[in-house]
Parts: sequence; C-alpha cells; structure tokens
Amino acid sequence: MTLKDIEAMCQSCDKCQLGATRTNLVFGTGVPDCGIMLVGEGPGANEDAEGVPFVGRAGKLLDDMLKIIDLDRQKNVYIANIVKCRPPNNRDPLPAEQAACMDWLNAQMAVINPKMVICLGRIAAMVLIKPDFKITQEHGRFFDRNGVTYTALYHPAALLRDPRRRPETFEDLKAIQEKIRQIAPEAYSL
Ligand code: URA
Repeated sequence: MTLKDIEAMCQSCDKCQLGATRTNLVFGTGVPDCGIMLVGEGPGANEDAEGVPFVGRAGKLLDDMLKIIDLDRQKNVYIANIVKCRPPNNRDPLPAEQAACMDWLNAQMAVINPKMVICLGRIAAMVLIKPDFKITQEHGRFFDRNGVTYTALYHPAALLRDPRRRPETFEDLKAIQEKIRQIAPEAYSL
C-alpha cells in the first residue's frame, strides 16, 4: 500500500464527526523515504483551506526551525498530524477523535518507517510518547518506542505566543540534529 492509496481511503473516512465539517483533508506532506517524521496536533483554518499541514504562521515558524538543522519538507522530512480534519473553531481534538484517527497515522508510519518521530506540542507527545507527557519538563528528551526514537518540541504556535521558550527550543533542535546524525544520517544526504 502506498501513501496515495491510504490518503484516498482517508478521504472518505467517517470514523468521527470531523470529516463532516472540514473543507479539505490534511493528510500529510513531505518526503516519505527520509526516516524523519514530524507529527502535529491537527489542522487549523489555513491548513483546512489548503489541505496541507503547517502552512499558517506556525507553519512558517516550523519551516524556519527546521532550516536551522538542515531539515526541509521538500527534502528530508515528512509532516503529518494526529487528526487529519480540522476541529471546528480551533478547539483541541477530542480524545475519541484522536483515537479514531490513529489508524491513519499508524498506516502512514508503517509506510514511512521513521527512525525518528518529532512530536510538535503536548497533544502529539501525549498520544505518541506517553499519556502523562509534560511538555514543559520533557521537551527535547529522547524516548525509545519499539526501536524508534521519539522526542517532542514545543508546538510552534506556543512559541509564537511565548517567545521566551525559543532558546530552549534551539537547544532541543541542536540535540535532534546530533541524534539524526547518529541514527538516521542518510536524512542529511538526501
Ligand atoms: N497546528 C498543527 O498542530 N498542525 C497543523 O497542521 C497546523 C497547525
């Protein structure tokens, strides 16, 4: 099964209510064979309008953050979200909606087979790393889950709201770059 096949099935998903109110499915974007996956929470208004993850102000900041460590959605990362359809009024996706959407993320991960998964924000980290993940204390740490390295960064939208967190995020990004050089060096020769 290819990502395109999975996306085609995902288009008609009715496992939760979010599909009924979205404009576009926001399935994922980037380079599938790169070994590095980024996972956000769910689409906002800009993403819903364009059908592409992280294209608003937070997305611009994300691209700038990735550039610091020589990552680029056109070159060596794949970006997806926990939920693929926009929750109305930018509310957090409900636990039931997150759970309903996990089959799609798992299917994406089965194809991409990432060596590193970078969670963007608390919600993705709670779903993918551990339910009691504390983003303020545990951002930038590395966790092994079935041989895959997981870590979490502050969500770029949180960094827009509170720029005082940016120096810590810079340190986290540098540690991620070092880790990628160890466990997925091929990402840097794409
Ligand atoms: N925030 C997210 O978590 N994901 C997006 O795609 C955009 C904003």
